[in-house]
Amino acid sequence: MVNDRKVAIVGCGFVGSSSAFALMQSGLFSEMVLIDVDRDRAEGEALDISHGAPFASPMKIYAGDYKDAADAAIIVVTAGAAQKPGETRLDLVNKNVNIFKSIIPQIREVGFEGILLIVSNPVDVLTYAAIKMSGLPESRVIGSGTVLDSARLKDALGAHLGVDPRNVHAYIIGEHGDSELAVWSSANVSGVPLHDFCEMRGHFDHEASEKRIADEVKNAAYEIINKKHATYYGIAMSVKRLCTAIMRDEKHILPVSSLMVGEYGLEDIAISMPTIVGRNGVECRVPVSLDEDELAELHRSASALKDVIDQVDF
Ligand code: NAI
Ligand code: 2OP
Repeated sequence: MVNDRKVAIVGCGFVGSSSAFALMQSGLFSEMVLIDVDRDRAEGEALDISHGAPFASPMKIYAGDYKDAADAAIIVVTAGAAQKPGETRLDLVNKNVNIFKSIIPQIREVGFEGILLIVSNPVDVLTYAAIKMSGLPESRVIGSGTVLDSARLKDALGAHLGVDPRNVHAYIIGEHGDSELAVWSSANVSGVPLHDFCEMRGHFDHEASEKRIADEVKNAAYEIINKKHATYYGIAMSVKRLCTAIMRDEKHILPVSSLMVGEYGLEDIAISMPTIVGRNGVECRVPVSLDEDELAELHRSASALKDVIDQVDF
């Protein structure tokens, strides 16, 4: 039985605790279980976040174990090593696949039937690993993918164009990492094609602006990690957005990482594409049109991920 009022978070470091803090304020759940190999850390975060709940809505927040998470509607996995300055997300793969080998079987053993939301990096490879290890239907294993990168893109475009980022419709797709790409060909601001909107706001050098903004988005995590050693608020809000889409069965389109089954010629790989997300997880991927260059870049991104997957022992 799934308890629609319960969420669990595995990994209570920067990302797990910030996500817990965001979820506590969301009103989506009335019970939250925090799990970490460092039990003191989970207990400390549970207490600290509980003390904020009287200012939001009543909620039971406690450190627990996998048995407590068995009936959760969503388990968010944020456990694992994070990048140090100079490391890429893909550099984390061996360490974090090993951590997943201890976490995912425990989730499986308790008979979890909810949605597994993967956040740990490299998120696309670990989403693929979780699909293989969990035995859950692939539609119920979702990677946060390029939801965060797309938020960064909207933020940068909103600032460039002097417009509310929520009116910007643009996606980053592919790997959540160095080979990701922006889908410029269909980007628009409330239905106005991006280039027309740019010209309306006095920007005419489209190629230079697009390159600058795409690079800024791709390198955002490196810049933040160099300056403050970790990223966590942006991803925490992404986790809250994803949990909202799931729990409210919004069927919202978000660029999550999920298993491709032939779309764009891609198979047996988890990668981000705009996807309808609802109470059952991944409903279907949305066939956004890509121009020739974007399609080639997407294939390059997928083969970069495939090379890593092929080297990992699941
Ligand atoms: P952190 O080092 O602050 O926290 C990691 C936590 O995982 C620690 O509390 C640790 O005790 C716990 N942990 C390790 N092994 C475990 C196990 N077997 N079972 C349960 N807990 C375990 O790291 P941080 O900054 O929270 O990052 C966590 C992960 O999230 C990293 O892989 C990072 O790259 C990723 N991340 C992903 C983002 C995304 O957009 N997908 C954004 C930001 C970070
Ligand atoms: C981020 O993009 C490091 O994946 C993490 O912030």
